[in-house]
Amino acid sequence: MKLLHLDSSALGANSVTRELSAAIVARWQDAVPGLTVDYRDLDTNPLPHLTGSVLTGADAVAKAEGDAAMDQFLVSDVIVIGAPMYNFGVPSTLKAWIDRVAVAGKTFRYTEKGPEGLAIGKRLIVASGRGGVYGESSPADFQEAYLRQVFGFLGISDVEFVRAEGVAYSPQHRTDALATAHASIREPLREAA
Ligand SMILES: Cc1cc2nc3c(=O)[nH]c(=O)nc-3n(C[C@H](O)[C@H](O)[C@H](O)COP(=O)(O)O)c2cc1C
Repeated sequence: MKLLHLDSSALGANSVTRELSAAIVARWQDAVPGLTVDYRDLDTNPLPHLTGSVLTGADAVAKAEGDAAMDQFLVSDVIVIGAPMYNFGVPSTLKAWIDRVAVAGKTFRYTEKGPEGLAIGKRLIVASGRGGVYGESSPADFQEAYLRQVFGFLGISDVEFVRAEGVAYSPQHRTDALATAHASIREPLREAA
């Protein structure tokens, strides 16, 4: 079994989502003997933005980077993403990665009946961090709602959010939100059984 672990927080060691994504991956490593983990830090090792020269393949280096990211995504059974809310959405580094794995003919296609996701059979666990409090379905949430939409579009309906929110309210809020989030991490195998 292969797990792809991505982080996108710009806050380094002070990051809520990095702490949570690491805890989720550690839980999977404990539960699944022989689990292969690929890690990419999209903050320190970002993909280039999807410009015209990248899209057309004129920029061969950027194209190769995107192809490698796509291959890494396609072979993964489980994807764990550390995804903070930045300006109500996701960090642009995470968006740049998504732009490279959301590719017609590879991870989705249009049919006469509408769009069809092709990246099926994967599980996605998002470590979500938010300064404010939004809950499950706020109209101001373009972070979790976006991730659910885009990965659902690609065929991944098994999406779980491990959420720490209100972390900017006060140090105590942050501590409590992290504790709640850690306690909400599910056992991988019990859940899969
Ligand atoms: C650049 C930036 C933009 C942010 N934008 C928002 C926002 O729109 N809404 C919000 O609730 N919190 C916002 N925050 C707070 C973060 O969501 C919060 O600090 C969260 O813990 C970030 O996760 P991290 O600690 O893993 O980076 C922002 C923080 C940064 C650094």
